[in-house]
Amino acid sequence: MMDTIADPDVKTAAGARPPLPKRPETGAPGSGLWAIIGPVRGTIWLAMGMAGLGMVCAVTAVAALGAVLECLRGGHVDLPLVRTWDAWAFGGLAAGLICASFLLRTLAFVVSHLGAFRLEQRLRTDLTAHLARVPLGHVITAGTGTLTKTLQSDVWSLHAFVADSTPLFGRNIAAPIASLTLLFLIEWRLALVALGVFILGMVVMRLAMRDYATLRRRYDQAREAIQAAVIEFVQAMAVVRLFDGGSTSFRRYHAALLTFREVLRTWIVTSGKAARIALLVLSPMPTLLAVSVAGVVLHAQGTIGFPALAAVLMLSTGVADALIPLMWINEFLRKARAGALRVQDLLAVPPLPTPQRSATPRDASVVFDAVRFRYPNRTDAALSDVSFTVAPGTVTAVVGPSGSGKSTVARLIPRFWDVDGGAIRIGGVDVRDCAPDALMRHVSFVFQDTFLFHDSTADNTRLARPEATQADVEAAARAAQAHAFIAALPNGYDTVAGDRGTRLSGGQRQRITLARAILRDAPILVLDEATAFADPENEALIIAALANLMRGKTTIVIAHRLSTIRDADQIAVLDHGRIAECGRHDALVAADGLYARLWRTHEAAQGWTLRTDSTGDPS
Ligand SMILES: Nc1ncnc2c1ncn2[C@@H]1O[C@H](COP(=O)(O)OP(=O)(O)OP(=O)(O)O)[C@@H](O)[C@H]1O
Ligand SMILES: [Mg+2]
Repeated sequence: MMDTIADPDVKTAAGARPPLPKRPETGAPGSGLWAIIGPVRGTIWLAMGMAGLGMVCAVTAVAALGAVLECLRGGHVDLPLVRTWDAWAFGGLAAGLICASFLLRTLAFVVSHLGAFRLEQRLRTDLTAHLARVPLGHVITAGTGTLTKTLQSDVWSLHAFVADSTPLFGRNIAAPIASLTLLFLIEWRLALVALGVFILGMVVMRLAMRDYATLRRRYDQAREAIQAAVIEFVQAMAVVRLFDGGSTSFRRYHAALLTFREVLRTWIVTSGKAARIALLVLSPMPTLLAVSVAGVVLHAQGTIGFPALAAVLMLSTGVADALIPLMWINEFLRKARAGALRVQDLLAVPPLPTPQRSATPRDASVVFDAVRFRYPNRTDAALSDVSFTVAPGTVTAVVGPSGSGKSTVARLIPRFWDVDGGAIRIGGVDVRDCAPDALMRHVSFVFQDTFLFHDSTADNTRLARPEATQADVEAAARAAQAHAFIAALPNGYDTVAGDRGTRLSGGQRQRITLARAILRDAPILVLDEATAFADPENEALIIAALANLMRGKTTIVIAHRLSTIRDADQIAVLDHGRIAECGRHDALVAADGLYARLWRTHEAAQGWTLRTDSTGDPS
């Protein structure tokens, strides 16, 4: 039984159309694939049917040509309906069948490709619609690499399966069946010989493929290891070349190559002989040979005429020709199944529940009420019993040692994940009762990893408010201290930024993100380490930008640089996922707890210098 990703509390993004099925809990092999191609199953049957019928026409045309020869020799074909036919009639039939075969084959190709494009489009829209609804945290944890692979290669392998394998499947199932049927009609003894060799071929094929699954898995793993090593080699090039001339990562690449060579060698040695025998047996040669010998004997005995012998020989190749393509289909199926499973795994990720009716926050306060949270892939809690209240228009700083859960606090507000216990309320409304767009209208987030699209600098800023005018964008950029550097870019606000466009420095990217947040102008602001790119000039600019951004807003700021948060209305000190202390700077320093310790370390760091003695040795 196939259940769906539909949830009574979840709006169906794709509209009234039923969602694609998720991965079945249990199921016959291939059922995953069968379910995923559901929307185009009819098209697939049609393409397979047309390809099969085309093959039947081609095979029957061969028999008709045999009948032409028979008529030319003065004989006739002793079959119902065609007893009175002459060579011309059979010739016409053969020509018609050949045309029909060609037409059906082309049509099957067109239909299967149309189906494949339809499936691809459907999968892409459903997957992107679904991805837009899964918790953002899942996207972070799964990694963009894995998601890209599913959206690109897996969808593509399903496209290839529908487009290319289905007509192939239809043709190669129909070919042996039609050929054998006609062979039995013409000369059952020779048909038995052809059938015998065909069965032998199937047995040999099975034997040759016996270890195939294991060998193939090892081959795929070795290939993936090489790909990973190449990616690592290229991505880490700057780091490794500076440290060890690249030899470490090159060694890894080399080792992956050696493993791959070994896997290939084992494959060739273990299955080489079987594969060579299989290829020989699976080729049309053995069938032709066996049928020819038997045919010549029967011909010599006078039991079979020459035209029938010629037709039998041609038809018997039709039986044998299907074996090798049937082997390929196995491979197509394997890839498509693997792709279908990954697509279903992604579709099975539960979407972030959205409320039927969105509540509207009453003011700009933020409350953490006994929040408990554990990352899905971890056993220990990231946050335990975290409670604090941020009054409207005030600034709360969250500080604490590395790994204490500061970024987790920031990420739970926009529901990257939902809390396991307690609640986060904005203006008195649980964030889970707030529709995503309402939540985003109320809260601006500035996270450390800034992403710029391959688009103009103006449009990158406008992302926060698409209807903003050029004047609005420039005003926001000025407030974010970004106007000067944007104006100095080759095409000013029209300069294309992003990884494939003009490269911007970390601090510049950060200020564009701040301009986005300023443009959005939401009453609540969540900042995670916005002062990370801190050469003195950049830091001064970013602090000025932040001051503009934070004016009149409720702010939760996470910063390592304690100097930037000294004036906060409240400082929440996290330690191992718990609130250790909460208060104003002076009170916390006086309390002489964790914050006082962090503050002393910070103060001491201000006085640090790279020179420790008069000889100038750096420490
Ligand atoms: N995506 C994730 N999946 C699983 N565990 C995570 C994830 N992100 C963070 N953690 C874990 O949760 C805990 C809190 O992490 P968090 O990033 O909130 O710390 P932090 O206080 O922001 O640290 P830092 O100051 O170094 O940025 C850590 O133990 C961390 O290993
Ligand atoms: Mg952090």
